Amino acid sequence: MRKLFTLAFIFILISAQSQNLSIIPNAVNAKYQDQSFIFSHKTPIYTTNSNVLSEISSFNHFMQTYYGFQLPVTQTKPEIPNIEIIFSKDFEDEAYEIEMNSQSIKIRGQKSGIFHGLISLLQMLPTEIKGTESIPCYNINDYPRFKWRGMHLDVSRHFFPKENIFRYLDILAYYKINTFHWHLTDDQGWRIEIKKYPLLTSKGSWRNGTLISHASNPSELFDSIYYGGFYTQEEVREVVSYAKARHITVVPEIEMPGHAVAAIHAYPYLSCHGKDVSVIQKWGVFDDVFCTKDTVFGFLEDVLIEVMDLFPSEYIHVGGDECPKVNWKNCSVCQERIKSENLKDESELQSYFIKRIETFLSKHKRKLIGWDEILEGGLAPNAAVMSWQGIEGGIAAAKHGNNAVMTPGSHCYFDHYQGDPSNEPLAIGGFTPLSKVYSYEPIPEALTAEEGKLILGAQANLWTEYIKTWEHVEYMVLPRLCALSEVVWSPKGQKDYEDFLTRLEDHFDKFEKRGINYAKSIYEINTEIINDTINHKILLKLNQAYSKNKIYYKSESENSKGTFIPYTSPILIDKNQTIKAETRDDKGKVLGKIEQSFSVSKSTGAKIQLTHQPAKSYSHGSPHTLTDGILGRIPWNGKEWLGFQSHPLIATIDLGKTQNIEKIVAHTLKAEASWIHLPSKMQIEVSKDGKKFKKAGELNASDIAKSGRIIEFHKSIKNVRYVRISFESIGKIPAGKSGAGHNAWVFVSEIQIF
Ligand code: ACM
Ligand code: ZN
Repeated sequence: MRKLFTLAFIFILISAQSQNLSIIPNAVNAKYQDQSFIFSHKTPIYTTNSNVLSEISSFNHFMQTYYGFQLPVTQTKPEIPNIEIIFSKDFEDEAYEIEMNSQSIKIRGQKSGIFHGLISLLQMLPTEIKGTESIPCYNINDYPRFKWRGMHLDVSRHFFPKENIFRYLDILAYYKINTFHWHLTDDQGWRIEIKKYPLLTSKGSWRNGTLISHASNPSELFDSIYYGGFYTQEEVREVVSYAKARHITVVPEIEMPGHAVAAIHAYPYLSCHGKDVSVIQKWGVFDDVFCTKDTVFGFLEDVLIEVMDLFPSEYIHVGGDECPKVNWKNCSVCQERIKSENLKDESELQSYFIKRIETFLSKHKRKLIGWDEILEGGLAPNAAVMSWQGIEGGIAAAKHGNNAVMTPGSHCYFDHYQGDPSNEPLAIGGFTPLSKVYSYEPIPEALTAEEGKLILGAQANLWTEYIKTWEHVEYMVLPRLCALSEVVWSPKGQKDYEDFLTRLEDHFDKFEKRGINYAKSIYEINTEIINDTINHKILLKLNQAYSKNKIYYKSESENSKGTFIPYTSPILIDKNQTIKAETRDDKGKVLGKIEQSFSVSKSTGAKIQLTHQPAKSYSHGSPHTLTDGILGRIPWNGKEWLGFQSHPLIATIDLGKTQNIEKIVAHTLKAEASWIHLPSKMQIEVSKDGKKFKKAGELNASDIAKSGRIIEFHKSIKNVRYVRISFESIGKIPAGKSGAGHNAWVFVSEIQIF
């Protein structure tokens, strides 16, 4: 009996100790060794392989930054417990092994593996090291799932000096991200020195002001601050070398043929019309793109020669996204090119452009990668596709036999909101919380196992239209990068969100201590609407990530301010009210807050059917989004809206019983920079039996233009049970607007019936 008790006790102790391994991304195999290593600032790093001194030096750089000291390095076997680094060709690139006991920590691998092993060890150290620390011993065997584990940064919309980039690279390395995609050129500023074309930076990297209102707001507000900056070639070399020491490849992006206004401002001959244009001060897609004349290719080849000299990466990113074709349509040279090259149209001209650049890069032993629009008009033979508009680009590339990197907006755009917008800094829109990033699976189901091998990995992107400061960059990246790192490194079957969240709190402690900014949105309450369509009711369910914290809430309405009470079960929403809720830890400290308002009408909680389903990325699970009493807020976040692009939105609402109605209000969205336009028509039909519908009226484009995004239809109608509302989209987005030529989106958050 006593023995059994002791065994059980040891087991509990081991399980509890095992909790201490908070490595992110989670290691493939880690076994607790039931002993500890006593670590201090005197613990030596010992190696007889001089080729790994650079990895040790990068590790010591982290030690200096995070703990204020470096570990002694020796090539003579120490007498005291030590960290031994053993270079071994028996490991795959990036794989490593850690073998730990009370006397030694042995790390084996090739150079990149050793670096990742040292990072795992770094993560195993406590937040603070005061004298000696006891580190639980684990044997670890670890290797990555994907070879492209990427993080992007746009430095054109806002510029960040090299010191910030070093800090970014440290964060990437800490999470075993091995590819830094540096978006260096765009309409709002050219950011890399090119010796042969000095005006690119002296003129092209500066703008005379910046949009300060949200792009979805029709009344644009600008500051008049002369804004810009660029990296000298010397600085670029420093960044590339800093990254290399952390086993990160820097992939530069030089945008073409679109997003080229800053270059055209510097050298107007690069456009079709040759006129002077200003560096752009707002966000979107602009018509002035590179012309397809030979002098432009000459210019781009010169630029790429200097870029290739600076960046040793296998891939060079050439953009390729969002290229309006209006100027090409009106340009005699471009039209002549279409004829002489036997091209069908401007889409094939874009393909010609990319293929010509790809041939040039190939000659220089480099590979081209571009956004998924490079599929338009035919993919270049060896190009890799970065799938951003969804996963379809990645699927098409792999089916075509080409490589792809997955970075779909739905899961990998870190410029989206990660929590309730009322608690978040202004963002472009969208809703990509931590759980969604964590849930991402990079290999699309539509691919065979063989095709799946062409998916190099995944990447998150950080576009900086709304991100002016470095603190804000860190806030958008962390902790979502932690989730992404596990998506691209850890085995698919081993992913466990609950376990990830537990490990993550240890990382939060370290961010706090190290002055690294991060979002605490995970402490927020997640709202979930329960539709009780049988009783024509809705209930608000509140969830939070950490069960040790508790939720309190109150309901405010016209007549009552409410008082906070513990949340125990979903809250009935039967009147106009605002639910205010907060999570508190065991000491009562408020960790996160949310506020959710409801506007109740006859349609709230009603049964609703959609003739066509919304786009998967903007479906938010249920047609009841349109009848949940939640009016979508501006700027939009994915959660409150349904989005339709390829099919119209036709909703049939069952009011439950026959009744009289007076007014229908549709809450739609206008965010043209995100390709979301007001509908061009809204039609109302009504029925008593749900079978025979009678048209009750319609509003056309000019009515809708007058009403703006909240569209009201007034008419007294008697004895109605079913109401069908159909929205038509404007169809193709017109020239001159963001996403020109693509189908416009229609977004609706709520259909209210009074
Ligand atoms: C992109 O987000 N335009 C690639
Ligand atoms: Zn042209």
